[in-house]
Amino acid sequence: MPLFLIKSIIALFLLIAALTSAFSMFTLLGKAEKKADPAVLRKVHRTAGFVFGLLLLVLITLGADFLAAEGDSVSPRVVIHYTLALSLFAIFLLKFLSVQFFKLFLRIVPTLGMTVFVLTLVIVLGSAGYYALRGGKIYPPATASGAAKQTELQGNMETGSRLFAGRCAGCHFSDREDQKIGPGLKGLFRRSSLPVSGRPVTVDSILRQLKTPFKSMPAMTGLTEQDLADLLAFLKTI
Ligand code: HEC
Repeated sequence: MPLFLIKSIIALFLLIAALTSAFSMFTLLGKAEKKADPAVLRKVHRTAGFVFGLLLLVLITLGADFLAAEGDSVSPRVVIHYTLALSLFAIFLLKFLSVQFFKLFLRIVPTLGMTVFVLTLVIVLGSAGYYALRGGKIYPPATASGAAKQTELQGNMETGSRLFAGRCAGCHFSDREDQKIGPGLKGLFRRSSLPVSGRPVTVDSILRQLKTPFKSMPAMTGLTEQDLADLLAFLKTI
């Protein structure tokens, strides 16, 4: 399952936990007539808060992994998203510590709680909204940098095949899907996502893999624009 999907599913549960937490406390503190049992509301609040903290920690760890793998090439949107997530965690921690150990701070706890709630909405809905507006496309569209040039150049599949044999075949099968040193690339362009990073299979994401590989694959230097076009022409046939 691609990392993106895993993060989205966890984020959905995070949102549900935040809503549950906020709703239980708002009912407890913000309503004059007390219909529900305060003890139950408190318990719901605490359980949802605990789940929230745990999920947030998982998301932050996954995010850190992603950032470490992407290096300095991440977009400003990702930087803002992650900075807000870290701030959210800090505020959540502050609230947790105030409730558990520093009871004299109790009067700032409702404010912290509301901040946690608002920040969660901003972070999760901000990201979800962005992807919704983009029609579900995760990475920059194929018009970015290299791809525009690639479509102008006609790739030669025969030359591409020879280039693949020389530069890629040591680590990749072109006629099988199993792993050599890197993943087997058979049927690459018919797949829904790239095998390791989970990025969509586009000319752009493959060029990106060759220039700044996802993890341990060495960067493919010394390939001309024509070489790349030839390689892509070949990759489309396997
Ligand atoms: C020294 C070994 C090695 C060579 C040579 C190599 N690769 Fe890779 N390749 C890898 C490894 C390992 C991965 C797994 C992802 C990573 O570590 O970046 C990979 C991943 C990939 C992926 C999938 C990336 C993803 O996002 O899932 C593609 C596509 C790819 N390589 C294409 C190529 C092409 C085309 C060439 C030749 C120009 C090539 N590789 C040369 C080792 C190699």
